[in-house]
Amino acid sequence: MEKKLSSVAKTLSPSPIQQLSYLAQECDAINLAEGFPDFPAPSSVKEAAISAINSDFNQYRHVQGICEFVARKMKQLQGIDVDPSTDVVICCGQSEAFAAASFAIIDPGDEVILFDPSYETYDTCIRLAGGVPVYVALDPPHWTLSQDRFEKSFSEKTKALVLNSPHNPTGKVFSTDDLRIIAAACKKRDVFAITDEVYEHLTYDDTPHVSLASLPEMQRRTIITSSLSKTFSVTGWRIGWAVAPSRIASAIRNIHIKITDSAPAPFQEAALSALASPPSYFDSLRREYTSKRDAMVNLLIRIGFKTVFIPRGSVFVFAELPPSCPLSDCEFVEKLIKEAGVVAVPGSGFFHCRNGEYCRRYIRFAFCKSHHTLASASEKMMGLVDDETGHFRLLF
Ligand SMILES: Cc1ncc(COP(=O)(O)O)c(C=O)c1O
Repeated sequence: MEKKLSSVAKTLSPSPIQQLSYLAQECDAINLAEGFPDFPAPSSVKEAAISAINSDFNQYRHVQGICEFVARKMKQLQGIDVDPSTDVVICCGQSEAFAAASFAIIDPGDEVILFDPSYETYDTCIRLAGGVPVYVALDPPHWTLSQDRFEKSFSEKTKALVLNSPHNPTGKVFSTDDLRIIAAACKKRDVFAITDEVYEHLTYDDTPHVSLASLPEMQRRTIITSSLSKTFSVTGWRIGWAVAPSRIASAIRNIHIKITDSAPAPFQEAALSALASPPSYFDSLRREYTSKRDAMVNLLIRIGFKTVFIPRGSVFVFAELPPSCPLSDCEFVEKLIKEAGVVAVPGSGFFHCRNGEYCRRYIRFAFCKSHHTLASASEKMMGLVDDETGHFRLLF
């Protein structure tokens, strides 16, 4: 019967991290791989969820208050007018919002432009909708957008592009110039933009998060997707949203209802408490994450990584193996697990333009971890530094 699987399902296989995660479990490795926090969510938000469960919010539910908060935040932070009664769709995380958005706008054969490297989920959703992903490589080491290459990637069949900023896996925050180039092309070619803004509150060094939708004439063609997951350390609660002009939002809502009906009721209730957090919450989140980012960058530099690109957003450092390292990214991570008891993600799974040798030279380290976890990982990795040469054994 496997032969009867859908053509897209047949192409799906475990990512490098899924394969290595068994080994990581066996070795009880410290997890710097996955992008979820290992520290508690805010107590007030957890209390709100407990109270919602105790109040028997157990059935399918739509909590309109979330839409009101999201619309208000859009106005405050991005200067965009969003109608909470029509333009916001509550979904099961950004993941479902993205899938529903893809199904809402993509027809078989439509091309969708993505930047490479890229978070893995988009590709599958686009292909399940019958679309054809078209990748535009960002240039290392600063993951620069080549305007020429980008503009040449459009064709008559281009229906949409995907922009994830702050970016997984690199931590790049697309600059205002990048956004202007992207917006100009979207308008010229009359295409949609789907943005993934899950790291909107995790930017560092005073780097602002600017939504593509806030650029002139872009709101009418942009579907913003985001969620509670990263901002409130609740990736398992599955609360997210899509924001789009009413006709498009309505199509996304119809699809969302057919796929999942509604996001988890008690966690929608708790989202009201999360979204009402004062500005001080977001400031201290940023401060905490900046210190975690710095700790991770410093550790990697100390052991010999070429971390020339300092992430200005997200929760990842995408570090390049130095030329002295004879190992590929997957071999490096395997040894890191076995010899240091630490797991990270081989970068090759994020690349789709397979024409560059550099695709096997990056390792993604997640720093959305407690200071204790980061210190333990540092101790274990420093344990592999040779006393005489000062070299980290896996890199030289
Ligand atoms: C760029 C990006 N988008 C989306 C997600 C998933 O978001 P959600 O939990 O809201 O589905 C992740 C999780 O790692 C991510 O890195």
